[in-house]
Amino acid sequence: MMKKTIPIMIAAMLLTVTAFAQEAKTIQLPKPNMSGGKPLMQALKERKSVREFSSKELTPQVLSDMLWAANGINRPELGYRTAPSAHNAQEIDIYAVLSDGLYLFDALAHELKLIASGDLRGLTGKQPFVKEAAVNLIYVATLSKLGNASSEDAAFYAATDAGFVSENVYLYCASAGLATVVRGWVDKTALGKVMKLRPDQKVILAQTVGYPK
Ligand SMILES: Cc1cc2nc3c(=O)[nH]c(=O)nc-3n(C[C@H](O)[C@H](O)[C@H](O)COP(=O)(O)O)c2cc1C
Repeated sequence: MMKKTIPIMIAAMLLTVTAFAQEAKTIQLPKPNMSGGKPLMQALKERKSVREFSSKELTPQVLSDMLWAANGINRPELGYRTAPSAHNAQEIDIYAVLSDGLYLFDALAHELKLIASGDLRGLTGKQPFVKEAAVNLIYVATLSKLGNASSEDAAFYAATDAGFVSENVYLYCASAGLATVVRGWVDKTALGKVMKLRPDQKVILAQTVGYPK
């Protein structure tokens, strides 16, 4: 009885350690390239929603640049971001669903932290292209960061602030020749459950990004 239990316990411990090592995976993004790209007026001229994507992965540099443009830190001395937020609450987090897992963008460390392994792209929306595109971003608001705002104001600020992040991504994509579309047609409750969001966290919008087909 004892002889059989010990190897089972060791196997269980190894499985736990392996699972932890997998869950602790972090993608350290290269330093964002803050120069180049198309001039702003040209990017505005070319900004549009696109719904056909190649399945080609983004290069680490493009992923880095896109996330920095979205809501990265552009004034390190103050910790302020490329996107404005009500009362500088910085309540919008970007989750990136890549082909191998769901990641949380840590703007300060400029890295992606693995939250869940596996190809979860299909859960990020109801349109078929979400399964094919390289990246689906999910904008999640932590409403408790908005302090004493009423629930009506908090919902308004969260939606507005997510919109700024989305427009940054649109402009980056126009500037870099990528395809993108922001999406509200998402089963937010189901997605929130898969993402294991807390009650004060809400999915606001999703946005698909990839190379054009
Ligand atoms: C809040 C919001 C939600 C949207 N939701 C979706 C969506 O679920 N699916 C989609 O294909 N496009 C969605 N769009 C994109 C709009 O359809 C698109 O912006 C509009 O048709 C204008 O096209 P343009 O972005 O090329 O100017 C959404 C846009 C906004 C601003």
